[in-house]
Amino acid sequence: MTKSTSGRLPLDKNIVRGKQIQVEVNGKLHTAYEGETVAALFAAEKLSAMRTTPEGEPRGIYCGMGICFDCLVVINEIPNTRACMTWLKDGMKISTQEGLKASHR
Ligand code: FES
Repeated sequence: MTKSTSGRLPLDKNIVRGKQIQVEVNGKLHTAYEGETVAALFAAEKLSAMRTTPEGEPRGIYCGMGICFDCLVVINEIPNTRACMTWLKDGMKISTQEGLKASHR
């Protein structure tokens, strides 16, 4: 059996994960689970910054509850999406965001 490199807790009788799904981050496929947020995926897979500021400084999870906007990513081509407030969905395409992006909403 291959040992997982994921930062997720090992399964036991107290941990029940959602259905396994596949999502893409910057063009690379990742296994994830329904019930996880995009931010949880970044943490579990030890991915680095989610965005950069206009000055190029890296940003990632800070508050984890939708207040700071440090976790902005592009999801299915929609920029400025808070990773900590967005549930993963099968087939989702996520990219890190560089600088400010005009929202299409
Ligand atoms: S981590 Fe603060 S809004 Fe997402």
